[in-house]
Amino acid sequence: MNGFRLDNKVAVVTGGASGIGQAIALCFAEYGAVVRIVDLNGEAAQKTAERISQLGGFSTAHLCDFTDAVQTADVFGKILELSRVDILVNSAGVAHVGKLETTSDEEFERVFRVNVLGTHHAMREMVPTMVARGGGVILNWFREVADMDSVLPRPGSRTELHQILHRIVGPRDSKHAWRSSLLR
Ligand SMILES: NC(=O)c1ccc[n+]([C@@H]2O[C@H](COP(=O)([O-])OP(=O)(O)OC[C@H]3O[C@@H](n4cnc5c(N)ncnc54)[C@H](O)[C@@H]3O)[C@@H](O)[C@H]2O)c1
Repeated sequence: MNGFRLDNKVAVVTGGASGIGQAIALCFAEYGAVVRIVDLNGEAAQKTAERISQLGGFSTAHLCDFTDAVQTADVFGKILELSRVDILVNSAGVAHVGKLETTSDEEFERVFRVNVLGTHHAMREMVPTMVARGGGVILNWFREVADMDSVLPRPGSRTELHQILHRIVGPRDSKHAWRSSLLR
């Protein structure tokens, strides 16, 4: 990406131990961000952080179940003791592919608890510190959240993602940010 950098930015990536979150964590680290990986799978989170270190980046791993409000507050409190946070990527989640008729209440509740309530817990801990600092960026990755939220742009659109990233780097790098292609 032409000139696009995330130097001096700190990003928390929930679900950064695998899948989309891991890809975002690796990508953000490659572009200079300090990445804090927070995941239910502590071992895989640690391995991803080590991989980032081996590639020359800086990352820390943190174990957390986002369905647990107390645990989320505790882990995010510790992360904020390490440094400020500029970017929160909510990618921790579970997918459920099923039809209405065959989806049990338990399956529905599990998706809702992890993807919606878990994202709510993460945002609730991070938003006040971002507001106090005068800004920050949150990427909500789940369809369940993105569709419900009429305020934040839907990250499914590449153009909108670039608009969000544009806000991360600020006007100084705006020309480059618009041309970037982060998720290719
Ligand atoms: N908005 C979109 O267009 C879009 C597209 C694809 C996927 N998604 C969503 O993104 C999510 C991630 O997809 P993926 O392919 O990366 O999945 P994945 O299973 O590879 O990764 C999910 C990560 O979240 C972690 N996790 C699960 N429950 C957790 C919890 N309670 N607390 C903390 N961490 C937890 C897992 O350990 C895992 O590392 C899915 O829920 C999916 O629905 C959204």
